[in-house]
Formats: sequence, C-alpha cells, structure tokens
Amino acid sequence: GSIPKEVGNITSLELLLLNGNQLTGSLPEEIGFVPNLNRIQIDQNHISGSIPKSFANLNKTEHFHMNNNSLSGQIPPELSRLPSLVHLLLDNNNLSGYLPPELSQLPKLLIVQLDNNNFSGSSIPSSYGNITTLLKLSLRNCSLEGPALDASGIPQLGYLDISWNQLTGPIPSGKLASNITTIDLSHNRLNGSIPGSFSGLPNLQRLSMENNNLDGSVPSDVWRNIDFSGNRSLILDFHNNALTILANPLTPPANVTILLSGNPICTSQNQLNISQYCQSTSVVVPGGSTNNDTLCPPCSTDLPHENILRSPIPCLCAIPLHVDYRLKSPGFWDFVPYEAEFQHYLSSGLSLSSYQLEVSTFMWEEGPRLKMNLKLFPNNTALFNSGEVLRLRDMFTGWLITDSDIFGPYELIDFIPGWYENVLPRRTKSSLTTGATVGIVIAAFAAAAILSSLITLIILRRHSSQISKRRNAKKIQMKIDGVKDLTFEELSNSTSNFSDSALIGQGGYGKVYRGILADGTGAAVKRTQQGSLQGSEEFFTEIELLSRLHHRNLVSLVGYCDEDNEQMLVYEYMPNGNLRDHLSGSSQ
Ligand SMILES: *[C@@H]1O[C@H](CO)[C@@H](O)[C@H](O)[C@H]1NC(C)=O
Ligand SMILES: *[C@@H]1O[C@H](CO)[C@@H](O)[C@H](O)[C@H]1NC(C)=O
Ligand SMILES: *[C@@H]1O[C@H](CO)[C@@H](O)[C@H](O)[C@H]1NC(C)=O
Ligand SMILES: *[C@@H]1O[C@H](CO)[C@@H](O)[C@H](O)[C@H]1NC(C)=O
Ligand SMILES: *[C@@H]1O[C@H](CO)[C@@H](O)[C@H](O)[C@H]1NC(C)=O
Ligand SMILES: *[C@@H]1O[C@H](CO)[C@@H](O)[C@H](O)[C@H]1NC(C)=O
Ligand SMILES: *[C@@H]1O[C@H](CO)[C@@H](O)[C@H](O)[C@H]1NC(C)=O
Ligand SMILES: *[C@@H]1O[C@H](CO)[C@@H](O)[C@H](O)[C@H]1NC(C)=O
Ligand SMILES: *[C@@H]1O[C@H](CO)[C@@H](O)[C@H](O)[C@H]1NC(C)=O
Ligand SMILES: *[C@@H]1O[C@H](CO)[C@@H](O)[C@H](O)[C@H]1NC(C)=O
Ligand SMILES: *[C@@H]1O[C@H](CO)[C@@H](O)[C@H](O)[C@H]1NC(C)=O
Ligand SMILES: *[C@@H]1O[C@H](CO)[C@@H](O)[C@H](O)[C@H]1NC(C)=O
Repeated sequence: GSIPKEVGNITSLELLLLNGNQLTGSLPEEIGFVPNLNRIQIDQNHISGSIPKSFANLNKTEHFHMNNNSLSGQIPPELSRLPSLVHLLLDNNNLSGYLPPELSQLPKLLIVQLDNNNFSGSSIPSSYGNITTLLKLSLRNCSLEGPALDASGIPQLGYLDISWNQLTGPIPSGKLASNITTIDLSHNRLNGSIPGSFSGLPNLQRLSMENNNLDGSVPSDVWRNIDFSGNRSLILDFHNNALTILANPLTPPANVTILLSGNPICTSQNQLNISQYCQSTSVVVPGGSTNNDTLCPPCSTDLPHENILRSPIPCLCAIPLHVDYRLKSPGFWDFVPYEAEFQHYLSSGLSLSSYQLEVSTFMWEEGPRLKMNLKLFPNNTALFNSGEVLRLRDMFTGWLITDSDIFGPYELIDFIPGWYENVLPRRTKSSLTTGATVGIVIAAFAAAAILSSLITLIILRRHSSQISKRRNAKKIQMKIDGVKDLTFEELSNSTSNFSDSALIGQGGYGKVYRGILADGTGAAVKRTQQGSLQGSEEFFTEIELLSRLHHRNLVSLVGYCDEDNEQMLVYEYMPNGNLRDHLSGSSQ
C-alpha cells in the first residue's frame, strides 16, 4: 500500500523506517511537517512521484535514504535549506531535471549519492566543488554533460565517482584530498592528458579512467606515497583511451595493477616492455571471508557453539549472535585494508571489546554496497545474558551506533537471535484485530472440549511438584554431557542435610560439603550462600564453562543444582585432605 499522510500528524516521530517493503504511491507532503524527524529511510520500495518541497522544513533530519524507488521529477532546490542533512541517498530512481547548485549550501553534508538517475542536459554544478564538508560524491550514470567537477577544494573528500556520464573536456588538474581512496572518471568523453596531480595520493586504492579520449603519457608514479603493507593494493585502469607516450619506465610494486589495453601505446613497436599491462581488462573486486583457521579443538556440537577466534582466553567456545549487515555507501573500494578498522569502529560503537565482533564473510553488491555477515560474541563467557542480547538488538534497530565517516550509513538486514530466541521476551500484542479476536474465541471453544484431560494433567503435575517444590520454574532447560542436573533433595540426602559433620571447606561463595551420591560415588558439593546467588543464565554459563575443563590436575564437574534460592556445583571428590594442610606439613 501507500504511506498514509497521517504519518505527518505524529509530531514526536524521530525515525521513519520503511525501507525494504513494497510500498507504492507517492510521498505525502505531510511528512515534511514532522518537526522531530531525524531519519527517513524509505529506500527499496516502489514509491513514485516527486520529492515534496515541504521536506525542506525537516530541519532536524540528518538522513534522507530514498534510493531504489521510482521517484521522478526535479530534486527540489529548497532542500538546500535543510540545516542538519548529512546523508542524501537518492540513487536508483527516475529523477530528472537539473542538479540544483544550491545543494552546496547544505552546511553539514557528508555523502551525496545520486547514481542511476537521468539528469540529461544538466551539468555538474561547479558549486559542488565548494561543499567543504563532503566525504563522498557519487553521480554515476546520471546522463550528465559538461566538464568534470574540480573537486580539489574539498578537503576531506574520500570517494569521487562521476563515471558513466557524457562529461567532456580535460580532467581538472587540481590535487584531490589526501583522504581519497577511489576516483572513477571512466566511461565519459574526457580528453587531454592525465594530470600529474594523481601521483602521491597516499590512500588511493583505485583510479579509473577507462573509456575516455585521454591522450599523452602514462602516469608512472601514482603509487609514490602509498604504503603497501597491510594487504593494500592499487588499481590503475586506463584502458580504451588514446595514450601514446611512456615518459618513464613502469616499475610499479607488486600490489599495483595497471591496465593499458586499447591504447595506441600497446600497439606501438618500441614499447615492448609494457606488454604485461596490455593484456587483461578485467578487475576483480576483492571480496571474501575472514580467515577462520584456529588451532583450537572443535567446540561441542550439542549447542551452536563456535570458537571465538581472537578471544583473550584461548580456545573459548561461545554461542554468537548473527547479524546481516550492509554498508550502503562505503568510502573505499577495497575493504581488506579497512577490515580491522571496521571491527574496531563497530565493536566500540556497540560498547564491545574488539575481539567480540567478527566479520565472518563480506561480499560486494551493486551500488557498490558491502554486505557482511557479522558474529557477536559474549565477553569471556560462553553465553550472552538476555539483557545484553536486547541491548545489542536495540543498538542496531534504534540506529544508536554513531556513524563513521569512512564506512558510511548501514542497513540492518537481519538481527538473528538464533539460540537466544527464547531468552528474549515475547512481543506483547498491544491491540487485537477483529480477525484475531474471532480466532481466539473459536480456539476457546476447542479448548473447552479437551479441558477435562488438561485438569488431569494439572493434578498430576501438582502432585509431583510437592516432592520438589523448590524446582526453579524458569530454569533454562539444557543438557550438558557428563554433568548431572541434581535436585535439592538428592544433594540434601547425600550430605546428611548439609550437616556440619560433612563440611570440608568454606569460602566467600559459601560452604563445601562432602557427599555420597545415589550411585555411591563421592562428591564435593559447593553450596552458594544467600547473597552470592547468580542469575540462572550466569550460573548456567559457569556450569557450561566448567564442564569444558578437563585436565588431570583439575577436579571435574559432575553435576549442579539450580532451584529457587539454591545454586550448587558438584565436583569429583578428592580424598587425602586439603592443600593447606599438605603445604604446612600437618598431614600426610
Ligand atoms: C492531522 O492533523 C490535521 C491538522 O494538522 C488535522 O486536520 C487532521 O484531522 C489530523 N488527522 C488525523 C488523522 O488525526
Ligand atoms: C526548525 O523549524 C522550526 C519551525 O519550522 C523553527 O521554529 C526552528 O527555528 C527551526 N530550527 C532551525 C535550527 O532552523
Ligand atoms: C538498487 O537498484 C539497482 C538498480 O536497479 C540494483 O542493481 C541494486 O541491487 C538495488 N539495490 C538494493 C539494495 O536494492
Ligand atoms: C521515468 O521518467 C520518465 C519521464 O521523465 C518516464 O517517461 C519514464 O516512464 C519513467 N520511467 C520509470 C521506470 O518510471
Ligand atoms: C544506467 O542507468 C540506466 C537507467 O537509468 C540503466 O538502464 C543502465 O543499465 C545503467 N547503466 C549502467 C552502466 O549502470
Ligand atoms: C535520459 O533522458 C533523456 C531525455 O529525457 C533520454 O533521451 C535518454 O534516453 C535518457 N537516458 C537514459 C539512460 O535513460
Ligand atoms: C565557492 O566559494 C567561494 C567562497 O565561498 C566563492 O567565492 C565561489 O564563487 C564559490 N564557487 C562556486 C562555483 O560557487
Ligand atoms: C577536447 O574535446 C573538446 C570537445 O569536446 C574539444 O573542443 C577540445 O579541443 C578537445 N581538447 C583536446 C585537447 O583534444
Ligand atoms: C600484496 O602485498 C601483500 C603484503 O602486503 C602480499 O602478501 C600480497 O601477495 C601482495 N599481492 C600481490 C598481488 O602482489
Ligand atoms: C571456516 O571456513 C570454511 C570455508 O572457508 C567453512 O567451510 C567452515 O565452515 C568455517 N568454519 C567456521 C567454524 O565458521
Ligand atoms: C570484558 O571483560 C573484561 C574482564 O573480563 C573487562 O576488562 C572488559 O572491560 C570487558 N569488556 C567489555 C566491553 O565489557
Ligand atoms: C581524512 O584524513 C584525516 C587526516 O588528514 C584523518 O584525520 C581523517 O580520519 C580522514 N578521514 C577519513 C574519512 O578517512
């Protein structure tokens, strides 16, 4: 369906997140009067019509994500009044008309992404070279004409894509910002020679100038200031131009790829030493999965445990949360050199230690957008507690993670609680539709028919709970190999009702008793005292960890008891007294 205009009456609304649906119709101009709106995400729908001029009133809006719809018409120049706008994403629509030069007045603008629209007849306003806040400008395939933008006055520009247009004339010779990673001027009608200003840009990953009419000489030291340690690489794509001269021999480092095919220089007789650069024209975007090699033994498979690869506790197994995540407008072309920085950025944004976040796979998609599968691990334990699962979910869904300049805005594709599903509180239904009410009435009749058998069951359960009334109803049900779930009764019997005669030790957590289990084996029963009780999940996490520790110098865990106000750990019993007596020599 369409977006109801009544949305405009929700004056307290801050986030309007409708992305990834099948919405049709146009944007109601009423949305422009929602005074507190911070974020509009209606990308990936089928919205048509034009962008209402009223949106110019959204003076708290920082994020305009309307890409991948069928919006048409002119971008309203009035949008240049938006005082807070940071990200303007309108790519993959059917926008037309001219590019408003006024957008250069937006005081906080960081990202402009307008690819795949049709501004036929329009040129790139030279005022865009004055947007001093800009980090990324992407105007690919917009049917733009006129000269290429001189972006040398944008001090922090990291990404410039004006490819697949009909731009003419020379490439501006001003030096771009040292932050620049990606320059794409390909598939235009640019002529003249390649300016020397592209040399010495220290962060450059890709310089694309293929399919233009460029002549003159091949740049021979673009890589001059690039430090290729840390898996960095550089692509220089000049194929299909009119380059004729090689002023200096090409001696690039191993991590530089140069493409020259389709230039006259490749066919001239006296340039034999460059044949290696004249062959292939294809460039593979680096993608892939993070190395998950580990020297640790595989985790137990009874639960969805995985090794935490960079855990400070070696070989710790834990149950991760999975998040499908996509960067909508990354500021780089090759992710590999930025992976560690990403890990640091997102983990600190989530208030996690860096090792708790793993990028398990990443993949480039059209856009270019970067899709990732993330794993989040608990901090030095096997399980997240439910509060932490909720907190992490809210961080992602509430857009509470601070934006990053280089990684740009993200899209949450899926937050997958997986094993933690039942730890999360059930969603409460605030209202019921008529259909649901009817359904419930019918179900109630059906239930009456089987009520008598239910009563029988309830009586039986009551009876059995008399025997073990301390049993914790909310207890996490779980089985761990070799670790018994024992009742209070059993342990009470095995220690003569925790009599002082069975006491063998005492610590801050409580007392330890010697016991004899029902099968006749000896045991040390550690009974937590009131005040030291943990939550069931924390207690279970401890059991889970202890059950993994097997060493001949360590006593092993044989069982536990988790009931109301009682938590006990049952260990293998070690005879021959205690360690202190042995050390002080008072016992043999
Ligand atoms: C929305 O607000 C306008 C006035 O601003 C009012 O006329 C209209 O009835 C309201 N609509 C709803 C559905 O509340
Ligand atoms: C935002 O708009 C409101 C009403 O249109 C106005 O009162 C307020 O001063 C504006 N704030 C800024 C920062 O422009
Ligand atoms: C956006 O639209 C383009 C062009 O139709 C498509 O290639 C791309 O996959 C779309 N992106 C998303 C995230 O839907
Ligand atoms: C795009 O807009 C043009 C008019 O500007 C219209 O003719 C065309 O059908 C539109 N295309 C789509 C896919 O909506
Ligand atoms: C350019 O955009 C048009 C639609 O506006 C699309 O059909 C075409 O495939 C795009 N070309 C490239 C190279 O992306
Ligand atoms: C862009 O629009 C112009 C005129 O409106 C049209 O001639 C041209 O084919 C369109 N280009 C694309 C790629 O759709
Ligand atoms: C860019 O800004 C300077 C100073 O703010 C101004 O003089 C110049 O005319 C502007 N250029 C364009 C193309 O808007
Ligand atoms: C570049 O192309 C334009 C036409 O688009 C032409 O006027 C100009 O002379 C050309 N310049 C060079 C150096 O070839
Ligand atoms: C790039 O450099 C890294 C070392 O930083 C090296 O391991 C890798 O093999 C190099 N790649 C190429 C294509 O030379
Ligand atoms: C490690 O990666 C390989 C493929 O690279 C995959 O088959 C395997 O399942 C991964 N293991 C884990 C624990 O993710
Ligand atoms: C993780 O736990 C360690 C101690 O076990 C603590 O120092 C660190 O601050 C914790 N990290 C986070 C993000 O809570
Ligand atoms: C741009 O470079 C400056 C230093 O010149 C650095 O502080 C900043 O983090 C860089 N920004 C990006 C997005 O890389």
